[in-house]
Amino acid sequence: MVAPSFFEKVAPVYEFLTRMFMLGTFESARDRMLNEDTSAFSVLDLCTGTGYIANKIEAKRIVGLDQSVQMMALNDRTKRPNKTLVRGNAYHLPFEDGEFERIYCSSASHEFKLFGKVLAECFRTLKPGGKVAVYDIYQPKNKFYSLIVNTIYRYPVEHNIMWVHTLEEWRKLLTEAGFEVEELEAVRGVFVFVRARKPV
Ligand SMILES: C[S@@+](CC[C@H](N)C(=O)[O-])C[C@H]1O[C@@H](n2cnc3c(N)ncnc32)[C@H](O)[C@@H]1O
Repeated sequence: MVAPSFFEKVAPVYEFLTRMFMLGTFESARDRMLNEDTSAFSVLDLCTGTGYIANKIEAKRIVGLDQSVQMMALNDRTKRPNKTLVRGNAYHLPFEDGEFERIYCSSASHEFKLFGKVLAECFRTLKPGGKVAVYDIYQPKNKFYSLIVNTIYRYPVEHNIMWVHTLEEWRKLLTEAGFEVEELEAVRGVFVFVRARKPV
């Protein structure tokens, strides 16, 4: 996991940098994650940061969880009556079993050496039939894209503290956590889009 102090420092310029490094998918990734009616749902924006999902989604209850005080301070500038921000650790979600219909995790899976443990927490806190959606960099097999991920993203952006997985590894992580994979595909060569369902 990246040193917590990293995001405390980077928070003021985070959204500017993210727009650049998401290679034009800043809006389309979020639109794809949110392409359904969630207005009656309880949703968790896991590793919410400045509120990429939490400040856009329409839902009955929106919870944003993050460990960074500064990222959440920026997030908190957007007030929404049904939004709550919780400081916490994604490895140990401070929520009851089956609290959420949807969990979103954008641009954060690479922060975790053991993302399978985070997925297990997602599985626990989702209702049966609930879904997790993830968008992030991944480990491409293509040599050119792999070079981009493991140079440009790995060193100047992530300071060599990042963990990325191939599509096959993603499938294994999801199924080991108990999920049924609905969508798993590469986007623009260096990102992965995941949607998986907790069986009923
Ligand atoms: C790259 S940012 C992504 C923020 C937001 N989801 C987005 O798409 O812009 C990663 C976020 O993960 C948070 N984070 C990293 N490790 C965490 C952990 N163990 N528990 C909770 N949040 C964590 C960081 O504080 C940071 O806000």
